Amino acid sequence: MDPITIAIGTDHGGFRLKTALVTFLRDAGHDVNDLGCHSPDRVDYPDFAHKVCAEVIAGRARFGVLLCGTGVGMAIAANRHPEIRCAQASEATTARLTRAHNDANVIALGGRLIGEEAAFDILTAFLATKFEGGRHVARIAKLSPKEFA
Ligand code: RB5
Repeated sequence: MDPITIAIGTDHGGFRLKTALVTFLRDAGHDVNDLGCHSPDRVDYPDFAHKVCAEVIAGRARFGVLLCGTGVGMAIAANRHPEIRCAQASEATTARLTRAHNDANVIALGGRLIGEEAAFDILTAFLATKFEGGRHVARIAKLSPKEFA
């Protein structure tokens, strides 16, 4: 795929895996904006989720990658932003389908759940898959509670 800008952020639970992913994505030619954390010291995952989401929302990054121990806290925090569609994934099929069906713009990974090779496969699938559009467009519009009322 063409090189894109990707914002990445983690807490201490995903710090080690983030280091490997930054290298992997840069080696693939992407521009990676590493928003931290930058050491294994304990931090609060929402702080980094919101930093990464801000880059995606502003259009400075095409996609966001978030890591914490499970990826779940990051996904919860990211999805508080109405513009963000974030899926937690531990295998490539979820990553592919959340792009194809949900037009996900952020993916959350569990640094304590998966190894580097699995994470590489997940990101490769996520980045390679286009949103299918069609019937999924109206469903995504309904994600907003305002549309539901
Ligand atoms: C931190 O210990 C851990 O709670 C965090 O990384 C994450 O798994 C939360 O969802």
